[in-house]
Amino acid sequence: MPRAAVVGAGMSPFGHHDAPLEELFADAALPAMDDAGVSADEVDAFYFGNALAGQTENDTHLAPTLATHLGLQGIPCQRFEDACATSSNAFKHAVQAVESGIHDVALVGGVERCTPETGLDTDAMTRIFASASHRRYEQPTGLTFPGVFALLTKRHMHEYGTTEEELAAVAVKNHQHGQYNPNAHFGQDATVEDVLESPVVADPFHLMDCCPFSDGASAVVVVADDLAESFRGDPVAVTGVGHRTDAVPLADKTAITATQSARDAASDAYAQAGIEAADVDFAEVHDCFTGAEVMAIEALDLVEDGAGRHAAAEGTTYVDGELPVNPSGGLKAKGHPIGATGTAQIVELTEQLRGAAGKRQVEDASTGVAHNLGGDAATTVVTVMEARA
Ligand code: COA
Repeated sequence: MPRAAVVGAGMSPFGHHDAPLEELFADAALPAMDDAGVSADEVDAFYFGNALAGQTENDTHLAPTLATHLGLQGIPCQRFEDACATSSNAFKHAVQAVESGIHDVALVGGVERCTPETGLDTDAMTRIFASASHRRYEQPTGLTFPGVFALLTKRHMHEYGTTEEELAAVAVKNHQHGQYNPNAHFGQDATVEDVLESPVVADPFHLMDCCPFSDGASAVVVVADDLAESFRGDPVAVTGVGHRTDAVPLADKTAITATQSARDAASDAYAQAGIEAADVDFAEVHDCFTGAEVMAIEALDLVEDGAGRHAAAEGTTYVDGELPVNPSGGLKAKGHPIGATGTAQIVELTEQLRGAAGKRQVEDASTGVAHNLGGDAATTVVTVMEARA
């Protein structure tokens, strides 16, 4: 049973922007509302994600600011903060609200600026990002996010023999996909050699194994399923949203590679949708670093534990492969403006399931899954969306 429907989707190009947050968000929200054929006075509520603006822009009460800029003042607005899973969490709450009948039409989205356009360089931004790791046990050690995911990936290498070449193959694939996404931060092709020859950031990750710092915004219009056909935008069904958490410190997690929160969020989402992993036609996963994609497809049960290392290298996860993963280019090539990433995955699922993804279209896509991590993989949101019959 569909829980809700997405009837409009929009995103700004991801990359470098010097526009104020409200203008950047409008570049995603207005196209999403236009796609849905929804005017400002038809939006009942605004669910919004931003993780860092308190630290990066000294702006802590953004939802009404953005709503006012869009002509939505007066409606309930709510900001969500959940590290990199911020706007997925906003999306979950919007789905619950329309499903329960509290609202009929919700605007959901996220915006973030993380590049030097904010006036903050890589060192400063790395320190701000690290505030999503454990304050007492991890931050004092100097652990950064490339470091967090390097540790998880090192464990995968230890357990399964994963190689740097296999990790690099993930970056090569996602850069290739990103070339077909006009909104991607990086459009250029890359080779395994380019990845391996780029500077080491946190062993085993080279610069080209990492997602970039990006600015950007994304938005979708979520409506009650029984109203879906009355909007201009071709509706796509939301059939499952799983949201689980795990201990924050890496040392306290029960599983280090495919984390328990990811496995639990996936099994909740699949159960709600009444599907199994084998029914998934394609996935958008949280590839903040190449190793994260390998572990994500194992946690989603799309491949067996330990088999994720082969998927990109053998071509399985290319857009024309057996199981396309990150046809958008993923965080690696599309970019990762923290608070905008979750709903950007929903934008990609919507476009793919409408058959409107152009050169990166997955053939016969009817069931897609999005996987979005927050912090030290302590939060995971998994969403299942399906083309309507
Ligand atoms: N992938 C590919 N190319 C990248 C890149 C990336 N992630 N990051 C930067 N580049 C390119 C830039 O376009 C630039 O190219 P140019 O010289 O042709 O213009 C060059 O590399 C240097 O860019 P710069 O911005 O100076 O890099 P940097 O050393 O300051 O930062 C990283 C590079 C990888 C350290 C930084 O992007 C990073 O920390 N990424 C991870 C962010 C993160 O932790 N996110 C949260 C995940 S949970």
